[in-house]
Amino acid sequence: MPGAERIEGYFKRSRDAHWYSNDGPCANLLCARLAERLGEEVRCTAVSSGTTGLMVALRAVVGERPRAREVIVPSFTYVATVSAVLWSGLTPVFLDVSPDHWHLSPQELREVLERRAGRIAAVLACSTFGCAPPRAVSEAWERACAAAGVPLVVDSAAGFGSRDDAGRPLGLLGDAEVVSFHATKPLAAGEGGAVFAREEAVARRVARQTTFGLDEQRVLAEAPGFNAKMSEIHAAITLAALDSFETTLAARRERAAALRAGLEDHGYRFQPGAERSACQFVPALAPTAARRAALLGAADRAAVQLRTYHEPLHLMPPLRGYAVHGELPVTRELSARMLSLPLANDLTDAEIERVRALLLMQR
Ligand SMILES: Cc1ncc(COP(=O)(O)O)c(C=O)c1O
Repeated sequence: MPGAERIEGYFKRSRDAHWYSNDGPCANLLCARLAERLGEEVRCTAVSSGTTGLMVALRAVVGERPRAREVIVPSFTYVATVSAVLWSGLTPVFLDVSPDHWHLSPQELREVLERRAGRIAAVLACSTFGCAPPRAVSEAWERACAAAGVPLVVDSAAGFGSRDDAGRPLGLLGDAEVVSFHATKPLAAGEGGAVFAREEAVARRVARQTTFGLDEQRVLAEAPGFNAKMSEIHAAITLAALDSFETTLAARRERAAALRAGLEDHGYRFQPGAERSACQFVPALAPTAARRAALLGAADRAAVQLRTYHEPLHLMPPLRGYAVHGELPVTRELSARMLSLPLANDLTDAEIERVRALLLMQR
């Protein structure tokens, strides 16, 4: 978290204007800076969280009373992705990810769009672990959605700062793309997020949804709208964090690379493109599920906070009963073997060695 003086340097603008939310000076400046960083024409709406951002983005692209109500979503993601679908009054259809990159499988996406034609309201793909999907994959999503006439929203919650294999930053995908500034994210404000949209009309609907459904003249244009606005204090924190974001990214990438170094020779696997990720996490695929269990068992004794990741959403009791496209074998396999290695901007060399010693322990 940036220090109080750096935050106050921005928040003073709100104090001077006596304006603490609703398109205040900090939120507007933040949006301008975030969009500028992406380097292409894009509109930004600051929101109160990634989850509310997903909700308003979905409503903005789908409309108020859609006839088609299904949203295709990966099962291998955090529960917030599907919560946003359900809160938007829509129904998830769970899809598998690809073993090659752990993002939504373009091949299966084409299949399900064909098989469920007429029922799909939107596709909600994810930048898994905040890592940017390879350009060929994101283009395949966009092509498949365009061919089916279905809007594409991308949940890149942990991905602000990540770049794909062609060097393009996350934030420019689909009809709308959503990022989070939660305390655990590389660009962190405690709570917060942003919705990016390249089309003016989509951006305008996102802004309306974010502000009770009111239009620019404060006339009710859509109902029900929502309150997803980012407060000025959160915008000030995000602005201050953005000033040192390059240093944050470099620190995280360097430490993540040190954690990963040489582990592939010991059977671990990492997400392709991880070196260009903003690195919220260091996801590591253990050689086997049994090896993962042994490591988790030994982690406490080694004083390493090793964690697992998302269980498949479609198998969680409150989410059973929604449609699933196939058996989702990749999701099951990744969920059974995935480990989260601890990462922090200031992780020391000794701490990195302690984590690595655990991962390399004799069986
Ligand atoms: C994939 C994904 N989507 C959405 C969210 C929700 O973001 P927020 O916590 O800002 O609501 C998260 C949060 O961790 C996430 O990992």
